[in-house]
Amino acid sequence: MKGRFQAGIIVDFQDLITRFTFDAATEFLFGSCLNSLDAPLPYPHNYPVNEHTTQPANAAEKFSDAVAAVQIVTEEDRAIVDSVLEPIVKEALRKKEKMKLGEGADSEKDEENETLLDSLVQLTSDPVVLRDETLNILLAGRDTTASALTFAIYLLCEHPAVFKRLREEILQYVGPTRRPTYDDIREMRYLRAFLNGKLSVKIFTTNHHSSPPNTFGVIEVVSACAVRYPVTYSVFKMHRDPKHWGPDAEAFDPDRFLDSRMAKYFIQNPFIFLPFNGGPRICLGQQFAYNEMSFFIICLLQTFGTMGLDLAAQPPDSLPLPEWKNGAGLKAAEKVFVKAHITLYAHTSSSSPCPLPEH
Ligand code: HEM
Repeated sequence: MKGRFQAGIIVDFQDLITRFTFDAATEFLFGSCLNSLDAPLPYPHNYPVNEHTTQPANAAEKFSDAVAAVQIVTEEDRAIVDSVLEPIVKEALRKKEKMKLGEGADSEKDEENETLLDSLVQLTSDPVVLRDETLNILLAGRDTTASALTFAIYLLCEHPAVFKRLREEILQYVGPTRRPTYDDIREMRYLRAFLNGKLSVKIFTTNHHSSPPNTFGVIEVVSACAVRYPVTYSVFKMHRDPKHWGPDAEAFDPDRFLDSRMAKYFIQNPFIFLPFNGGPRICLGQQFAYNEMSFFIICLLQTFGTMGLDLAAQPPDSLPLPEWKNGAGLKAAEKVFVKAHITLYAHTSSSSPCPLPEH
């Protein structure tokens, strides 16, 4: 990023952050990072074409693109995804067999460094179950966090006062160069309020057990007379509802998680804020996601003192439709074409077509 900025070239944050969350997730899940961040960053559409701007995709990029596409389900993409996941699962099963025979190396017995896949192989040796479970959690952990961080950067560009205050907190607690610790992250109240404020106005994850994936969650309710029936709800709409959050419900305002509005609305009824859902099926990766997002934002703001959107460099099809200007609320002010599949994302021609419901 530094190199690109020094050369006066913009960086596509959605692309960059998806690589970051992909590498973090594969390291955490399989113990082998797929290093998609090593591939060269793409150039903006309005940059002159030359041999640097047109490099073929590497294996990690192909896998990452296929993981995105496989949510729309094509045989070809599924084959690319399987070709990467199957050897990883095979290796985990081989390690398990070696352990059983007492042949495992000391480094392989290290419980501290045990990955999710290491734990799963203790429960089953079925390669299909293992492959599907790891892909499921890769999907649960990559695009959600990438979406949350992409829109965090977008909101920071649009709200310079928030950017300034957040950067001041980061420099006060962590300083300009130190690597942040868990304790730093725990103590930084404005950073958490910023992430919550962002999750409340720009979060859109569909309930994993709703089928097909849609903009709502579906829960099964068992009534007093033991009749089961589905109830549909929209977290996206709930987070913007003045009935729950007061008259300024639509505004992006991290202070609502710090000032008297916190007690008035949220503490009274914590179920009005459900970016990670709640109850027994709450997101298992919630703490991981908060730490990952905090770490990314701290390091970014330690390094860069200003941030802005370059609308001319944005792919033309990622710009909001002209008629949105006449829309109501947040929609009229959008600078990107916000769309949704399982998560919210900024549309580009490579992303899938699924229009977002009216704000
Ligand atoms: C900002 C980031 C994230 C958001 C907004 C998010 C959101 C959610 C939501 C709403 C659910 C509940 C779905 C349902 O009702 O069935 C969920 C479940 C889940 N999430 Fe996340 N998630 C995030 C990050 C992560 C990460 C980083 C991981 C793993 C590393 C992860 C793993 C899971 C798993 C395993 C479940 C299923 C839990 C269960 O059904 O028992 N999530 N997530």
